[in-house]
Amino acid sequence: MCGIVAAAAQRDVAPLLIAGLKALEYRGYDSAGLAVLADGQVRRVRAKGKVREMEAAYLADPFPGGTGIAHTRWATHGVPNEANAHPHMVGRVTIVHNGIIENYAALRTELQAKGYAFSSETDTEVMAALIDVNLSKGLSLREAVLATVRELDGAYAIAVMSRDEPGRVVGARRGAPLLVGVGIGEHFLGSDAQALIQVTNKTIYLDEDDVVEITRERAQVYTLDGQPAARDVHESELSADAVERGEYRHYMQKEIFEQPRAVADTLEARIHAHGVLPNIFGVDGEELLAKVKGLHIVACGTSYHAGLVAKYWIEDYARLPVSVEVASEYRYREAVVPADTLFVAISQSGETADTLAAMRESRRRGYLGTLAICNVPESSVVREADLKLMTRAGPEIGVASTKAFTTQLSALALLALHLARQRGLEQARYQDLCAQLLRLPRAIDEALKLEPQIVALAERFVHRHHALFLGRGAHYPVALEGSLKLKEISYIHAEAYPAGELKHGPLALVDEDMPVIAVAPNGPLLDKLKSNLQEVRARGGELVVFADSAAHIDGNAARGVVLRVDAGGEFIAPAVFTVPLQLLAYHVAVLRGTDVDQPRNLAKSVTVE
Ligand code: F6R
Repeated sequence: MCGIVAAAAQRDVAPLLIAGLKALEYRGYDSAGLAVLADGQVRRVRAKGKVREMEAAYLADPFPGGTGIAHTRWATHGVPNEANAHPHMVGRVTIVHNGIIENYAALRTELQAKGYAFSSETDTEVMAALIDVNLSKGLSLREAVLATVRELDGAYAIAVMSRDEPGRVVGARRGAPLLVGVGIGEHFLGSDAQALIQVTNKTIYLDEDDVVEITRERAQVYTLDGQPAARDVHESELSADAVERGEYRHYMQKEIFEQPRAVADTLEARIHAHGVLPNIFGVDGEELLAKVKGLHIVACGTSYHAGLVAKYWIEDYARLPVSVEVASEYRYREAVVPADTLFVAISQSGETADTLAAMRESRRRGYLGTLAICNVPESSVVREADLKLMTRAGPEIGVASTKAFTTQLSALALLALHLARQRGLEQARYQDLCAQLLRLPRAIDEALKLEPQIVALAERFVHRHHALFLGRGAHYPVALEGSLKLKEISYIHAEAYPAGELKHGPLALVDEDMPVIAVAPNGPLLDKLKSNLQEVRARGGELVVFADSAAHIDGNAARGVVLRVDAGGEFIAPAVFTVPLQLLAYHVAVLRGTDVDQPRNLAKSVTVE
């Protein structure tokens, strides 16, 4: 999604803005631009495509100035081209915007009647014109922004400059992230802390509906009614190294290989050989979780798949009913909420518009409480939840989630064990599950050693157009996740089915052109899965089977490959078996030459509906 960087400093800010935009590239975008205010004049440069193309245009004709705003745009209203790229300029106002203004069409008509002409198709230009109208009434930039945002429906994070107010940038947020960076004699705005880590690690997180004014000397936050508000300054633990690609070819590859560490960090000081520590959900956590009679898990994409795995765990071990739903569906229907149900939101970014809206909607529906499983500590989802369990994956830059998923599974495994123990799961069983979870980082490390075999396997997929993924039980969501990875970065059409569903329809697709990838760890369903695989073989389908090393799957049958994966136990197997599927998607995409870290049309943090 769109990214924002802004600065009020004594030095020339264009290079800082460009570096900030580069740190935001992972969010996904299709055009970029920046504007600098100096001596009452605004200079602007914009380009379709990557930040480096905009940077080249800037370097061909650079301009100085200590006040500026910059943007990466992920197209919503209007195609990705230079005219629609931000910053937009109307009258005295220059603006960048992330989000969607829902009442922009009506506002546009009103403004056209007042004589405003628009040069783009964006809702953002409408906002700029409205601020200009308010400036014409004699309001200051801050007052004009406040007056304008009160008229808007929808979601926004904005940074705005006025030609008449040198050295000042005003920001505002509702439903989209924006934070303030506090430097020494300079202040910044950014969509996340990563964008600002090159200049400061001190940040102020804005609340919903906050408006902020930054100058070199100060950053002052205001509430929507115009009252000054105090907000804490946080010191970010993020290091510049955490967002470096290092020796890896892509961020995605780096993040796949970071999983043993990320999972170990997520488990650290939360579980030991005797069990899960009681206080990991915060002071009220244990008491609240003891009352839970059921769970509704809500999330999007990969996070939704993590929720689906958790359903198997929680129902099996804690015997509590669990429903899992994608947030964009949940938020618009009247879900029945039985008494003492816990609402669980899973989100890597903590800013996904649908997940956040679903969580807000849940407040109205009478849940016992809300729990956030999230990777970004100061995100909206975390701040609004009653209980939180942070995944400690570190920044995930590749658009395709990898370490976020396995750390979510780790956190959800802790939740399942905690609930199970509270509900009297037998001690020996409980300790076996804890021991398995503690082995997970090592098991993932072992699975990563399959990379050379997977590089060879990837060759078989380069010219394919379709693929079918199969799994049973908790490995059905793993198959879903494998197919999502393949489709989003290699653009191969992939689908996943519970293997038992094969003959109820998808078997019709199987022929020699349809590779079938099966997730087949040891377990009670293995024999059933083997029968499903026979059905594929009998129809000439090419089989790729990821099997537990102890499983007996015939790898010699014609048109088949079996890769041995040591699951390290039935409980943790879904997390372990995910790893070869991630590697397969990654290497197929590399061979096909796609933009692995920023696949077409996708954004990392989906802050619009
Ligand atoms: C897929 C992927 C997306 C996200 C989804 C939710 O690789 O990354 O499907 O999982 O957009 O994002 P979060 O977890 O940030 O709420």
